[in-house]
Amino acid sequence: MATIALDKASAAANYAQLPEMPQDVFTAPLQKPNHLGEDWLEPEQTSYDSEDDAIWDDLFARQMKVLPGRAVSAFMRGLDKLDLGRGGVPDFVEMSENLGKLTGWSVVPVPMLIPDHVFFWHLANRRFPAGNFIRTRETFDYIQEPDVFHDVFGHVPMLTDPTFADYMQEYGRAGWKAMRYNRLKALGSLYWYTVEFGLMMEDDEVRAYGAGILSGPTEVVFATEAKSPNRIMLNVDRVMRTDYVISDLQPTYFVIEDFDDLYRQTVERDFDKLYKSLPPAFTYANSAVIDVDHVVNRGTQEYLLRGGRGSGADPV
Ligand SMILES: [Fe+2]
Repeated sequence: MATIALDKASAAANYAQLPEMPQDVFTAPLQKPNHLGEDWLEPEQTSYDSEDDAIWDDLFARQMKVLPGRAVSAFMRGLDKLDLGRGGVPDFVEMSENLGKLTGWSVVPVPMLIPDHVFFWHLANRRFPAGNFIRTRETFDYIQEPDVFHDVFGHVPMLTDPTFADYMQEYGRAGWKAMRYNRLKALGSLYWYTVEFGLMMEDDEVRAYGAGILSGPTEVVFATEAKSPNRIMLNVDRVMRTDYVISDLQPTYFVIEDFDDLYRQTVERDFDKLYKSLPPAFTYANSAVIDVDHVVNRGTQEYLLRGGRGSGADPV
């Protein structure tokens, strides 16, 4: 009988309303700054100074040296459509107007990482929360918290693609069910291996559409060309059982045929059944290749075996 109750709750989910995070769900605690409301949004975007704008321009120029031929064409078109290279940190209001005309999305400023249930709520309503700060020259190459360059340059161009834009909204809606089943880690793994580190086949080559790849110079080349990582066709059930690391280059990337493939595999999947079949913890290490995998390239894992980032190993 519990199943029927859950299905009913699912059909009745009101995505316009901020969901409550159940008390027993595993999620990272975050302290809300006092000046923010329940939506965690800043009243307005930071006004950046000329050094901030120069940092954006330098980061932009660095990516443009490595992205052509390695990023999916939808991403390159998105950069053009929103004119993100015109100079300086883009204005969220103007960008949202343009993005709104294309796919109905907007970009809203947040001060830091926000809680999962608030994040799901914004995505389900086609609002993309973007970090309201930009890195410094000291943290030019690597930052832990996503800044405006990662969030806007990495994520927003993809939101100009209608199918990907729909996928992101559905991902947000999927959060309601993940909270009910206490499977946020599993859903987080799907986000990680698609939205952040996804690859796609294009012109018989692997290209990147994930923001974590597209917003940094090293991983763009590593993900698409290096011998170390595995590249495996996306299988949602498998990905949601796979662990991930956040502090180094990925040992494995998952590849989609196209955005329709991504949409079909996830949005049309019965997640009730999937969540019921998932163990509480991840089953597969992030470097594993398993029997069911459709492998595009099996990696040597040389980079990982030499010790990864901490050892100064070459990303080969
Ligand atoms: Fe991101």
